[in-house]
Amino acid sequence: MKNFKIAVIAGDGIGPEVIQSGVDVLKGVAALDKTFSVELEHFPYGCNYYLEHGCMMPPDALDRLKKFDAIYLGAVGDPKVPDNISLGGLLLPIRQKFDQYINLRPVKLLNGAPCPLVGVKPSDIDMIVVRENSEGEYANVGARLYPNTPNEIALQTGVFSRRGCERVMRYAFELARRSKKSVTSISKGNALGYSMVFWDQIFDETGREYPDVETHKLLVDAAAMFFVRDPKRFQVVVTSNLFGDILTDLGAAIAGGMGLAAGANLNPEKKYPSMFEPIHGSAPDIAGKSIANPLAAIWSIAQMLEFFGYDQWSSKIINAIEKLLVEKKTLTPDLGGSARTEQIAPALLDIISD
Ligand code: NAD
Ligand code: IPM
Ligand code: MN
Repeated sequence: MKNFKIAVIAGDGIGPEVIQSGVDVLKGVAALDKTFSVELEHFPYGCNYYLEHGCMMPPDALDRLKKFDAIYLGAVGDPKVPDNISLGGLLLPIRQKFDQYINLRPVKLLNGAPCPLVGVKPSDIDMIVVRENSEGEYANVGARLYPNTPNEIALQTGVFSRRGCERVMRYAFELARRSKKSVTSISKGNALGYSMVFWDQIFDETGREYPDVETHKLLVDAAAMFFVRDPKRFQVVVTSNLFGDILTDLGAAIAGGMGLAAGANLNPEKKYPSMFEPIHGSAPDIAGKSIANPLAAIWSIAQMLEFFGYDQWSSKIINAIEKLLVEKKTLTPDLGGSARTEQIAPALLDIISD
């Protein structure tokens, strides 16, 4: 029997609340499947760990995490710790050191999910955003010069490598080819004359290897407008790290809210573990109240199972989420219901095992 080792980093705020639901669904599915098992190990890394030890995770953490098949992460961030310290000490190093260069974020409006757009049907919002996840605006190369003087300067450089652009674009093209979908590249070559002109050039070059795939290019400002005015035009979207971050929160807003938006940080070669997480943060405004929506965290379990090759379980979980949304009996307050976080996983498993 195949056994998958999963490192669980529940993290801060609502992280532990939503992760528990995802873990329950993962264990429930493994029990139903009977051909694979999951072995979980919890790591207490996060802001409380920082407040106690002065670091977000210990120096050997990446060596320990490397041995796992996947990492399941809740959220990182607490008002008591500066965000650049907490994220720069845990989430971002895992993505970068484990070369999780693909950040796969479905933006799919399920039946029954709320949508603030007028005249839009679920089938009109069905895209997958392939966000570059290893470099770009997140390379964190820069400096602060002349601190605390009137001449103070902050520099932050985007890093766009040929290899980095090509690999994320190829991933998007392969995905589009397999699913017979178009690819839209989103960039900003009109203002960013080095990085984004380069991105556009590599997109054109890579596209020549995929003459069967329909391609489109948009500037990020227009793309943001079209996410709202005409989301149907997007199928596979490929974009840089920062643009992908911003556009996927917008994507969440049009496809049911932050409580439904999942993400997978993939190292496609499987040299390192991939990491699965909801795209939302630690939501300090609702933490500790058991009202956080765990469906995004559960959807990222569906992504994990798909990555492991269990597409049928992935689809079953997403279909069960859709059924829950349509029935409207067991939903958290962000979706208009009155259920508590811990009620969602059992309701979902009931549907799955039916
Ligand atoms: P956030 O995503 O935590 O919250 C934004 C809004 O969405 C809040 O009103 C929150 O209540 C709501 N929300 C988010 N997830 C929800 C859920 N599952 N159910 C119901 N409502 C939900 O973003 P923020 O407030 O900008 O950031 C809070 C902290 O989280 C910061 O420290 C930030 O740096 C961090 N953050 C971490 C991650 C991550 O770990 N992957 C992602 C984003 C933000
Ligand atoms: C996300 C988050 C992170 C990002 C932050 C917390 C560093 O917003 O996963 O979308 O910007 O990538
Ligand atoms: Mn984000």
